[in-house]
Amino acid sequence: MVDLKLPEIKDLTRIERIGAHSHIRGLGLDDALEARNVSQGMVGQKSARKAAGIILQMIKEGKIAGRAVLLAGQPGTGKTAIAMGMAKALGDETPFAMMAGSEIFSLEMSKTEALTQAFRSAIGVRIKEETEILEGEVVEIQIDRPAVAGAASKTGKLTLKTTDMETVYDLGTKMIEALGKEKVQSGDVIAIDKASGKITKLGRSFARSRDYDAMGPQTRFVQCPDGELQKRKEVVHVVTLHEIDVINSRTQGFLALFTGDTGEILSEVREQIDSKVAEWREEGKAEIIPGVLFIDEVHMLDIECFSYLNRALENEMAPILVVATNRGITRIRGTNYRGPHGMPIDFLDRLLIISTQPYTEEEIRQILYIRCEEEDVEMSGDAKLLLTKIGYETSLRYAIHLITAAALACQKRKGKEVDIEDVRRVYELFMDVKRSTQFMMDYQHQFMFNEIPEVNDGSAMAE
Ligand SMILES: Nc1ncnc2c1ncn2[C@@H]1O[C@H](COP(=O)(O)OP(=O)(O)O)[C@@H](O)[C@H]1O
Ligand SMILES: [Mg+2]
Repeated sequence: MVDLKLPEIKDLTRIERIGAHSHIRGLGLDDALEARNVSQGMVGQKSARKAAGIILQMIKEGKIAGRAVLLAGQPGTGKTAIAMGMAKALGDETPFAMMAGSEIFSLEMSKTEALTQAFRSAIGVRIKEETEILEGEVVEIQIDRPAVAGAASKTGKLTLKTTDMETVYDLGTKMIEALGKEKVQSGDVIAIDKASGKITKLGRSFARSRDYDAMGPQTRFVQCPDGELQKRKEVVHVVTLHEIDVINSRTQGFLALFTGDTGEILSEVREQIDSKVAEWREEGKAEIIPGVLFIDEVHMLDIECFSYLNRALENEMAPILVVATNRGITRIRGTNYRGPHGMPIDFLDRLLIISTQPYTEEEIRQILYIRCEEEDVEMSGDAKLLLTKIGYETSLRYAIHLITAAALACQKRKGKEVDIEDVRRVYELFMDVKRSTQFMMDYQHQFMFNEIPEVNDGSAMAE
């Protein structure tokens, strides 16, 4: 395997549903890394956000490898939200891989393999490639239509110019199709990648700015390029080590990247890739970008995983590990010992700990307000007040869930705005944990669950 295959440029558009954290667009920090009160969808939890911002700064500078951060706090205090904020703030270039602790038990591979894949998904390789491109203004496109309809191949000529020269190129069927697809016309300034044949429209030439035809309001005007038509250009793309692994693993096609069905990847493959990447780094062709691996509900990992993490963090290429948990002192999986957050002491010792605090009523009000906007729900002031009260007394998540439910109740009565009655109605329809627990206590003799012996383990930090 001398030539490593690299994935094609990722150009997938995602249709996003409104997820639990879709309102989070960053950490909401100012330039001095101080948390703004309400910004980028983030409310309160300032010291945790600021701490996360400092970690981000360390990641961006790219100097440190293998640090680990623990977000610890009660359920619903925004641990996952902060991790999502970090991901957004990092931008597209820096890889951010995310998994839940329990995932490693459900994949069809060993736990350490799953963790290795997760680690390598969080390590980016920025690869520089030189390509040759043709860049110029289209003078003329001339296509010779074959005399017989349906005859095999079309041919044609493309005339391109810069301010200094003009050249005519022969066109094959593929290029003709590509030009048609991009709707290239004379007067456009285009770039053609010589290796792949990919055409990019850079804009319309200023010389044509007086033409009336074929101009939308978004037409961008550019200067006709100068110098040679043929130029060398450096293109940079970022792929993760895991992507390179999958594509080069003979047992799995690259489609495995989409299905996630990657199976185990041979360690020889990884070794070869690592040494190739090291070679590229020495030649100055590639750079390592350590990203972030976020493991939510980290108490679900067992002792083997923790020991793997200890080792993996010492690797020179290791990403920044961010883990989150809502557990207090509880059993470490795979052992009979208890540890803070369900983690062994030697692993804990490596962590910088960020703790999240419960929200004030005002903060809950603001988060609910943002969620109403996000879910496109109009709600009266009174209803919001009641919802805030509910959020404060029960839980933030419960209150967030009631937003959609109340909106549906409102829709059903053909109302325009969710009001206090709708909220009250869904509050009665759907129970929060406290009321549900109370119900169970009152009627437990009618259920079968008292057959299970009492375990006092894995108790959440809350209450
Ligand atoms: N500071 C915050 N600003 C805005 N939304 C928040 C904030 N904290 C939590 N949320 C939202 O509240 C809900 C519960 O928070 P979550 O991050 O899932 O809690 P945790 O992971 O700590 O259990 C999510 O929808 C989350 O996006
Ligand atoms: Mg969470």
